[in-house]
Amino acid sequence: LNDKLSVDERLLKICELLEANIDYYNWVGFYFKNGDKNELKLGPYVGEPTDHTIIPFGKGICGQVAVSNKNFVVPDVSAQDNYIACSITVKAEIVIPIFVNGENIGQIDIDSNTPDPFTEADERFLEFVCAEVAQII
Ligand code: SME
Repeated sequence: LNDKLSVDERLLKICELLEANIDYYNWVGFYFKNGDKNELKLGPYVGEPTDHTIIPFGKGICGQVAVSNKNFVVPDVSAQDNYIACSITVKAEIVIPIFVNGENIGQIDIDSNTPDPFTEADERFLEFVCAEVAQII
């Protein structure tokens, strides 16, 4: 049955599973590099709709991860000056890059309404999720 799902349908299911099963994951989505432009484009997500469907490289937490190729864990979004707010309820954020053949092609972005909820266990788990995602895109 799963063989019939498109890549976007599979990615959406991953978002739904994560949001539904981890109480401090309140917005879960994917951003991908937009062709050869220096920007990210929003992919499948669950949570409040966001105006930030395009994010230039370097802007916000997501745009910084697009250029750093590193995990970015933000315990308190109010302490970040290069941050793009999507909702006033968000307290914390984690962004993990997705690598295909060593290239950073996108990321998973998770917002939390709980302050400082993310641990190294979230990083390891989401790195695993991103490695699985890399195999299906
Ligand atoms: N907060 C992100 C923008 C994306 S929204 O969280 C959905 C950022 O600063 O890059």
